[in-house]
Amino acid sequence: MAGLKRKDILGLREMSTEEIDLILDTADALKDIVNRPIKKLPTLRGKSYVTLFYENSTRTAKSFELAGKYLSADSINIAVASSSVAKGETLVDTARNLEAMGIDAVVMRHPMGGAPHFLAKHLKASVINAGDGMHEHPTQGLLDMLTIRQRKGAFKGLKVAIIGDIFHSRVARSNVFGLTKYGAEVWVAGPSTLLPAGFEELGVKVTTRVEEALEGADVVNVLRLQLERQEKALFPTVAEYSKFWGVGPERLKLAKPDHLLMHPGPMNRGVEIATAAADGAQSVILEQVTNGVAVRMALLYLLLGGGDAA
Ligand code: CP
Repeated sequence: MAGLKRKDILGLREMSTEEIDLILDTADALKDIVNRPIKKLPTLRGKSYVTLFYENSTRTAKSFELAGKYLSADSINIAVASSSVAKGETLVDTARNLEAMGIDAVVMRHPMGGAPHFLAKHLKASVINAGDGMHEHPTQGLLDMLTIRQRKGAFKGLKVAIIGDIFHSRVARSNVFGLTKYGAEVWVAGPSTLLPAGFEELGVKVTTRVEEALEGADVVNVLRLQLERQEKALFPTVAEYSKFWGVGPERLKLAKPDHLLMHPGPMNRGVEIATAAADGAQSVILEQVTNGVAVRMALLYLLLGGGDAA
């Protein structure tokens, strides 16, 4: 199998199933490293990258750092608040200066949709989108797909219910773009004020009734209520949101008994997801986190190493 034929990872919308298969196969092959006593391969020795996050992150930022360390790449983290960004340096100047220091890739999270696409045009180094505004979060989409594929074998015909704050969710968009390419039946459900227009045109079923989406679902992916992005009151109260759209053991009885319960994190326990469900037998939330390291190792390997580990 050939390596990836692209410089950057910006979104799942523009990726082919062959590219996604290659990334997921490579992640499967590399995942074993996470559970080894000695977590180190020499594969990316001499390669370097920077993580540049203009928004907070635990899972994405730290798993990218660990993924590089496990493959022997050198990485540095730019804390935007204590960098020259705080003195007014532009995104392009910041990245060009880092490139002048010899880095091979920039992993970037930014509040503006399209910021990584813009940067990718200005750099020879690879750009990996670690979440851009309300647009895409491709590495989260890929780790969600890896988790589903490992547990269910394939995507075609699976009913995947994505529940919650769809409007603000880059995770929902990347999941929709990825899963629909393989013939999964994707539903999105939430309050009408948090359901963006135009999702039906992406081949997705849209409902305000969470029960309709959950009925017979193979996969339930619960999204975080993004309280920091609510510019105006889009639902009456958090308690009301939880009552009508929160996912807990009672509602999950509507899904198939062997459903997977997913959440990208960070969770608002007791708001969009009940603790009994998040920590229950069907939850694969921490598997998603482990798969996040595997997917990010695969992407660094395929972009910086250029080969095929699978
Ligand atoms: N899922 C996710 O993107 O989590 P972080 O914000 O912690 O990176």
